[in-house]
Amino acid sequence: MTERWTPTSWRARPAKHIPRDYPDPAALTAAEDELRRMPPLVFAGEARRLTSLLGDVADGKAFLLQGGDCAESFKEFRADNIRDTFRLLLQMAVVLTFAGGKPVVKLGRIAGQFAKPRSEPTETIDGVTLPSYRGDIINGSEFTPGERIPDPQRLLKAYTQSAATLNLLRAFAGGGYADLYNVHKWTLGFVADSPNGTRYKELSQQISRTLDFMGAIGVTPESQPALRQVEFFTSHEALLLGVEEAMTRVDSTSGDWYDTSAHMVWIGERTRQLDGAHIEFCRGVKNPIGMKVGATLEPDDLLRLIDVLNPANTPGRLTLIGRFGHDKIGQKLPSLMRAVKRAGRSVVWSTDPMHGNTLKAGNGYKTRPFDRILSEVRTFIEVASAEGVHPGGVHLEMTGQDVTECTGGARAVTEGDLADRYHTHCDPRLNADQALELAFLVAEKLRSQREVEPVAAAV
Ligand code: PEP
Ligand code: CO
Repeated sequence: MTERWTPTSWRARPAKHIPRDYPDPAALTAAEDELRRMPPLVFAGEARRLTSLLGDVADGKAFLLQGGDCAESFKEFRADNIRDTFRLLLQMAVVLTFAGGKPVVKLGRIAGQFAKPRSEPTETIDGVTLPSYRGDIINGSEFTPGERIPDPQRLLKAYTQSAATLNLLRAFAGGGYADLYNVHKWTLGFVADSPNGTRYKELSQQISRTLDFMGAIGVTPESQPALRQVEFFTSHEALLLGVEEAMTRVDSTSGDWYDTSAHMVWIGERTRQLDGAHIEFCRGVKNPIGMKVGATLEPDDLLRLIDVLNPANTPGRLTLIGRFGHDKIGQKLPSLMRAVKRAGRSVVWSTDPMHGNTLKAGNGYKTRPFDRILSEVRTFIEVASAEGVHPGGVHLEMTGQDVTECTGGARAVTEGDLADRYHTHCDPRLNADQALELAFLVAEKLRSQREVEPVAAAV
């Protein structure tokens, strides 16, 4: 893998999950060319800043919170959806910062998370078989032959939606909405009267009192502008490499290539073949890169992938996102963490407790039981602590909306409730209440783990 890298060198490699059945390939090329002329969505300097913050996570000094929809959709594109996911991430970050005592890097699965790898190439309903839905950037989710045909115009629509989403996120992050003095206003209406809402209210009152105290001794937003804004970053799976290639530009400051479609992109579990197109593309862009790590990956193969993706061993360059399943993580993760640590490789270890815990409910809905999600996160933190590794972050499919897609939680969603508000275009997401509950539990677990660490080190 030492051959020269270019933004197109991936095209000579085997590429999984990239559709080849566009009826008019010339129209696809034309759409990609149009993207090539579009302005970048993010700047190289911002991506470098994220690498540096993730470097702090790799060094155990910060925590990564990454979350958002499984798949963004054209239909659900509304300002209030973006705002609700953004403020839920803010709330979770406050819980994790206050209880965990470490800065939280806020990274949305948003403003570009459109393309989906699918386990099955086709879907059959009532004896009718059609190509699977592959994300709004490729085809439509409705079960009709016309909708399932890949349409290159969708690339441009996804770009426009990403640009508008990012524009709003930048305004929320820097324009006053994320002001820490608003901490008590971020609660979503339907969460306010739940046990998690009550806990959050107590926490926000504590923060408000702390801010009053700080104000009294002269620490104000005027002296500390950071109190009025947050740094917020975007990420998505780098699946449709034609789009990623078109958005990849040389940074005039450093002369390096950056994929300007998002601050971070990640490689999915199904496309991380060492000699495959996705690894080839990602190795050459300077953005921070994520890679999903599932139960079939062996330590030696992981080390080979790390060598290709992060040959300079730059802290923050590579985030490994474990997604094993609650019943497999305890067996698989320790040897992987140990191998990486023994090889002296700097990575961020994060956990995706969603994708290994999906099942089909009796009534046919795809769901994820909240207790299994929590169990995987708990085991992740326990294994990391036992291995002397920083449990660096969580990667979640979640929404600020009051959906019923994952079962369980404090306001228990039952299998019978799934039909009520099942809106996801792909995988089941945590609703705001469940996501907040998870943040409290992670914060508690991190704190209790920290408290036992010095004892463990002494014996
Ligand atoms: C995803 O994150 O939506 C996804 C498809 O995950 P994975 O690659 O881990 O299956
Ligand atoms: Co998913």
